[in-house]
Amino acid sequence: MMKAVLAIDQGTTSTRALIVGQDGAIVARAQVELHQSYPRTGWVEHDPETIWRDVVATARQALSQATEAEIDVVAIGITNQRETFVVWDRETGRAVHPAIVWQDRRGAALCERLIGEGVETEVSARSGLLLDSYFSASKLAWLLDTVPGLRRDAEAGKLAFGTIDTYLLWRLTDGRVHATDPSNAARTLLFDIARMDWSDELCALFGISRAMLPRVMDNDALFGTVDAAVLGQALPITGMAGDQQAALVGQGCLKAGQVKITYGTGAFGLMHTGDTISRSRHRLLSTVAYRVGGQTCYALEGSIFVAGAGVQWLRDRLGIIASAAETETLARTIPDNGGVYLVPAFAGLGTPHWDSQARAVLCGMTLGTGAAHVARAMLEAVAYQSEELIDTMREDTGLCADLIRIDGGMAHNAWLCQFLADVLATPVRRPDNVESTALGAAFLAGTAAGIWPSLADTPSSSNRDAVFEPALAAAERARLIAGWRDAVARTRHRAN
Ligand code: G3P
Repeated sequence: MMKAVLAIDQGTTSTRALIVGQDGAIVARAQVELHQSYPRTGWVEHDPETIWRDVVATARQALSQATEAEIDVVAIGITNQRETFVVWDRETGRAVHPAIVWQDRRGAALCERLIGEGVETEVSARSGLLLDSYFSASKLAWLLDTVPGLRRDAEAGKLAFGTIDTYLLWRLTDGRVHATDPSNAARTLLFDIARMDWSDELCALFGISRAMLPRVMDNDALFGTVDAAVLGQALPITGMAGDQQAALVGQGCLKAGQVKITYGTGAFGLMHTGDTISRSRHRLLSTVAYRVGGQTCYALEGSIFVAGAGVQWLRDRLGIIASAAETETLARTIPDNGGVYLVPAFAGLGTPHWDSQARAVLCGMTLGTGAAHVARAMLEAVAYQSEELIDTMREDTGLCADLIRIDGGMAHNAWLCQFLADVLATPVRRPDNVESTALGAAFLAGTAAGIWPSLADTPSSSNRDAVFEPALAAAERARLIAGWRDAVARTRHRAN
């Protein structure tokens, strides 16, 4: 009987459960879209109960497909949208507030105040991050300051804080385990990535009581065991990682200098930097890649806040496409972008601008502009942002990746893959299976459960990978990038 791992991938816009076999193939899957709430301008929330129900439903579906196929699932790996968090009552298990999502900007005022006080250098030295409301801490501080009684309860140890991995682990173990892993802890702005522990100084800065923080365990630890009553069988949870770090593992980026970009709701480029913390001079993030067998590896990260979310916007708000795949068809109907640029700063701009006040811009339109131009401009924006990210990494590290590995849902779009290679002027490799995030979670859990001897022995992607070679003339590439830069400058013309 083939052995396999259940990978739970709780992302920003969907919840998925995938069964990954010993040979690395995905043998069963279930998925459901997650509802987004935008209660105020700049706020983004999820319902924790919906997340929990979706995880149980998709995991049960995938497990029953595995049982029918006579596959022996031996462990669970969890991977998740990072920075998004829930605070709940330890006694009742009830969340005290909706989950506050990573795209939510309600911590911006606090971050700006702290930047004004001149503490960003020290915060970055400890956390590897920037003072930006993308990360959890400023929004957790907002929550404790806003909901009456919450700070008192937090200090009394009555409340638990958790990123989504932690929240799911708590629910799956019926409240027995309150723990996280370093790749998720490192995204809160409360974790010292050199000491690999919560930082008293950062907790004090944001007014967060350590009593509410989870224990930090290695990414391949035995986190706990799921009650049989929950999923129909008692299974150990032996791997957890934030989705971007999981994708790094899933892409087999285990050595310094290897780079991957995952195109999900946002897009995140990570360069493995080995066992040293590489400090950026261009506002890239230093973050924990993983800690496996007590050994910590780090990564440099560039963050693009809107990738697939922009395609969803074309579908759900503009109604110019019925499905994501249509963007490819539309982009191919026109010979060029017609001078139209879309800068999707719907949640501010990340690397390298870090401007939380920037707002989206669509420019360069004429009466000849139609849906195809807007859809193509959205895809092109993903490529230009990737170019900014990779260019920043090159300047920072002096390392010039001669191949960029890509994955995630948007990597299905072959037009985008080719345009990426053209704009990056670097070959782009797309694995046969673009579910690198789920693979990474499965690899971490599966090595701990003895399916594979080590991460280096996990099944590498097949030789059916597609490689897209750059084919754009240098002058044309420079012209397009100049047009993008001009459009980005316009995002600073703020309405208020
Ligand atoms: O940092 C946010 C990131 O983890 C979200 O990932 O795939 O939901 O865009 P995704």
